[in-house]
Amino acid sequence: MRIVGGPSSAELAERIAEALEAPLAKTRTKRFPDGEFYFKFDEEVSGEGLLIVQSLDPPQDAHLVELLLMVHTAEDLGARSIKAFIPYLAYSRQDERYLPGECVSSSMIAEALENLGVDALYTVDIHNMNVLKKYRIPTRNLTAAAELARYFASKELKEPVIVAPDDEEMALVRAKHAARAIGAGYDYLRKERDRHTGEIRTFAKEMDVAGRDAVIIDDIISTGRTAANAARILKEQGARRVFAGVSHLLLRGDALKLLRRAGVEEVVGTDSVKNRFAKVSIAPVIAKALTEEMP
Ligand code: R5P
Repeated sequence: MRIVGGPSSAELAERIAEALEAPLAKTRTKRFPDGEFYFKFDEEVSGEGLLIVQSLDPPQDAHLVELLLMVHTAEDLGARSIKAFIPYLAYSRQDERYLPGECVSSSMIAEALENLGVDALYTVDIHNMNVLKKYRIPTRNLTAAAELARYFASKELKEPVIVAPDDEEMALVRAKHAARAIGAGYDYLRKERDRHTGEIRTFAKEMDVAGRDAVIIDDIISTGRTAANAARILKEQGARRVFAGVSHLLLRGDALKLLRRAGVEEVVGTDSVKNRFAKVSIAPVIAKALTEEMP
């Protein structure tokens, strides 16, 4: 299998190639003066099995078009199989028509990828498994929760507790994974989001965190409000240190300031999203999944 790194995930693709001891496909990309994307394979891919790696973090629309053009080219040139590794699958939060007349954006992404020739999709800590039910091709949701927890465990945590900042099914699954990886317990908070204003409210509850280190584990930090609300509650209840680890650290607007003000000591993401906080790699996670599937 050859690894094809898209513009959003070139370094991650290199790490995956290294982990799998697989070749990186030679490609060329550029932007035309008017902003349009140009993509070219600089080697023969006819008859080859390809793994296209491209996260859909912001600017997600540009990254999406890049991905679609790469998939189209691979199919057009006769690749034998096209697997897509899309660590951050943008538009997954719009997984149903929450208000009348809304676009179900995640369905559009599924149809586009399938129609262009993707044979299998791999992603990381998807917001909601319902998104993957829209696909007819095989899909696999991987998790970075254990890797994130292990990163924080190296900081000599005191009686660590993993905290899910909301009680959605996948949030609890991630918290359990993280807790198991470092032999800690876990707890969760309940959160409500106003579908019209986007405002969120996290409900305080009594938690056994006094004097202990708490690690908030989530799929995404975008505005930072979810994690900041959770951190504030944990600090109010006497948590010694609060950390936050997420698979997709989007950090929009004042997110970082908000997290610091709420008492988060360190925030860490994975290389699903390129930024200075991406200290955990998901390359071993996808490499292990692909190796397990090999005949
Ligand atoms: C939503 O329920 C997700 O699991 C995240 O908690 C959420 O997307 C984080 O967004 P924000 O940082 O804007 O609160």
